[in-house]
Amino acid sequence: MSVHFGDDFVFGAATAAYQIEGAVTAGGRGPSIWDTFSHTPGKVEGGDTGDVACDHFHRLEADLDLLAELGVDSYRFSIAWPRIQPAGTGSPNQAGLDFYSRLVDGLLARGIAPFATLYHWDLPQALEDRGGWRARDTAYRFADYADIMATALGDRVARWATLNEPWCAAMLGYAAGVHAPGATSPRAGIRAAHHLGLAHGLGIHALRASTAAPLGLVYNIHQFYPASDSDDDLRAVAVADATGNWLYAEPVLKGRYDELTWEALGRHTDWEFVAGGDLETMSAPIEFVGLNYYSPSTLRRGRVPQAAPTPWVGAEDVEWLPARPPVTEMGWTIEPQGLTDLLQRFHERYPGVELIVSENGAAMPDRPGDDGVVHDQDRIDYLASHIGAVAAARAAGVPVTGYFAWSLMDNFEWSFGYSKRFGLIRVDYDTCERTWKDSARWFQQFLATRTLA
Ligand code: FCB
Repeated sequence: MSVHFGDDFVFGAATAAYQIEGAVTAGGRGPSIWDTFSHTPGKVEGGDTGDVACDHFHRLEADLDLLAELGVDSYRFSIAWPRIQPAGTGSPNQAGLDFYSRLVDGLLARGIAPFATLYHWDLPQALEDRGGWRARDTAYRFADYADIMATALGDRVARWATLNEPWCAAMLGYAAGVHAPGATSPRAGIRAAHHLGLAHGLGIHALRASTAAPLGLVYNIHQFYPASDSDDDLRAVAVADATGNWLYAEPVLKGRYDELTWEALGRHTDWEFVAGGDLETMSAPIEFVGLNYYSPSTLRRGRVPQAAPTPWVGAEDVEWLPARPPVTEMGWTIEPQGLTDLLQRFHERYPGVELIVSENGAAMPDRPGDDGVVHDQDRIDYLASHIGAVAAARAAGVPVTGYFAWSLMDNFEWSFGYSKRFGLIRVDYDTCERTWKDSARWFQQFLATRTLA
């Protein structure tokens, strides 16, 4: 059986600023928390930093040509806040605005719809020095930045996301300490989660004033399965959902925090940072939610409490079972059914909002063959089966309107540095040369017919 995706369905590729741009001091860019973190010994594998990355900043036109050759409908990129406001506040830096303006115009000239994410984790370091996402003020500074971007690009960007994966920004960054800024406080993680949600809501108000484009945000809602039907294991999933998923989605989509969220996080915080009116601000109407999906997890009631620091704040008594094979190079289980289930489950909980798979892809143990080309049938299988999983969700009535492959090219994979390759296009980190992998050719051919065999 084959599935066809109509022309109204949007296919694209995704990247993020710090992972590809490099040129960290060019055009007046200020330092971000990821510059500081990656330059701190021991934080990133191999001591890698984003100083050069894929040098995308200097190779913009050629990279836009790659997107055009691939044949994508849309490109999801992120804007580096420290290029726009080098110290996180005040009037915009023209060179930064010019770069993204060229990017957007270059996409439009090639018939590709620009999908901009405002915050993909590169907070200006100057704001971190004033408390970062622990501080309420950062949410208001984000709204200023959103206003600047909407004024500059609101007439040309096709779709805006305020945040990428607030769970990662809050919990990996402030509770587990494995992402920038590297803090290890459960309490700070929860504060950060709330302030990120507030920033989103304020950001939506700012964007709405200057653009008619669809607005939303991007989550990594985790797809959890219970290890058994026992009450204990079902409870484990409920707690992990309340603390790891609904903490982020519920205020935005329902203007509240779930009872179980208040309860499970109560041991870490008294919630004094939730001010009157916040939940209303956070739940400003949006048109879409982006869901990033890579892999599901199976949970049971923990036999041994998790060791601190953990990103699973509030779910310390839950145990994550070891990843079931087959796994990717990240050690993540390959399970396309998880994507169908995630889309269905999210839609059932939050009906009425359009869904987009805003990231999906796989790090694989790529080795160029004798011909210099990476023959990544494993990645092709991953992408094809997950696009099939999207089709299954659509057939079941879930309003999924787009799919973005992660990633256009190999890039700086956060704390893993350059050791993990997710790209359709290979990047040689010595020369920054780009080479098409088989998966890029496959995606190109798929996009030409939009039909999955
Ligand atoms: C997601 C991030 C993205 C990339 C992929 C592999 O969590 O949004 O930047 O690192 O994982």
